[in-house]
Amino acid sequence: MALQLPFDKIGEFEVYPDDIYLLSFSKSGTTWMKEIISLIQNGGNRDELRDISVDTSIVQLEFLYTDERTRTRLQSLGLVPNINVHEMTSPRLFSSHLRHDLLPKQLHEKKPKVIYIARNAKDVAVSCYHHQRSLAKAYGKAFKTYECFSELLTDFIDAKIPAIVYDNSYWHDHVLSWWTRRNDENILFLKYEDLIQNVNDGIKSIAKFLGKTLDEETVKTIANHVSFDNMKTNPRTLRSFYCTQALKLDPTKESPFVRRGKVGGWKDYFSVDDNATFDTHYKRWLKDSDLEMNFEL
Ligand code: A3P
Repeated sequence: MALQLPFDKIGEFEVYPDDIYLLSFSKSGTTWMKEIISLIQNGGNRDELRDISVDTSIVQLEFLYTDERTRTRLQSLGLVPNINVHEMTSPRLFSSHLRHDLLPKQLHEKKPKVIYIARNAKDVAVSCYHHQRSLAKAYGKAFKTYECFSELLTDFIDAKIPAIVYDNSYWHDHVLSWWTRRNDENILFLKYEDLIQNVNDGIKSIAKFLGKTLDEETVKTIANHVSFDNMKTNPRTLRSFYCTQALKLDPTKESPFVRRGKVGGWKDYFSVDDNATFDTHYKRWLKDSDLEMNFEL
């Protein structure tokens, strides 16, 4: 089951020059980034965010374009706010998993700030596997059940996991389309693995890009708030309401949004054959690019 989205309409979305867009391939640390950006924007005020859903702070653009029934459902689960995009306070904050050619065309004309977060494809595939399993467990036949990781990996390589990668984008197309623009003034290209290694520096570079000045104490406060352990106990970042209501699971034990949070966890899932197959594709995907991702630290 995939989200049915009117891509032509999304393409016509009116972009404001002072909007901020958080873009990513699914399962690349988007929720983590949402929390970091929300706190940078409000100067590290954790209390202000406590009762607001993470998806209200930063609105997933494509969710505004689902059919009415789906949108009502997404709203009731806190995955999208009931808002008029023209009445949002400035700067408007949006996220999207859509691939480059399906995003609003005005992104390239109005040049708002774009933050792109990339994560190594092997850990992304494993994270997709767990998310897909949660969906299949909750919704049954509507979502493909993968008996084993190798089966999902084949679909990941072929860009065929519509429940999670609902625009059927290839990881490499998605990431490379922004990697090639990484030196544009309005683009900040980040890697999940760099944030894992030094979240304080990540917070500082995002703040600088967004034109915010944070003192050391505020940087530390934000870093502490967005640590994996703290996000693991925070209903906002776990999307607890959605997990309990829709996925029927205990978010403190298995939220797909804050699950393991490691670099290199793929090694527990890839067989030797999986790895060889994947590496062959990966080499071909990146043969003309200088992008390097860390698969372990
Ligand atoms: P894993 O499933 O590998 O653990 P998204 O928000 O784009 O769906 O990404 C989810 C992934 O980001 C999950 O990866 C999740 O654990 C990880 N993540 C969430 N919060 C994190 C944090 N504070 N530190 C590190 N990883 C985090």
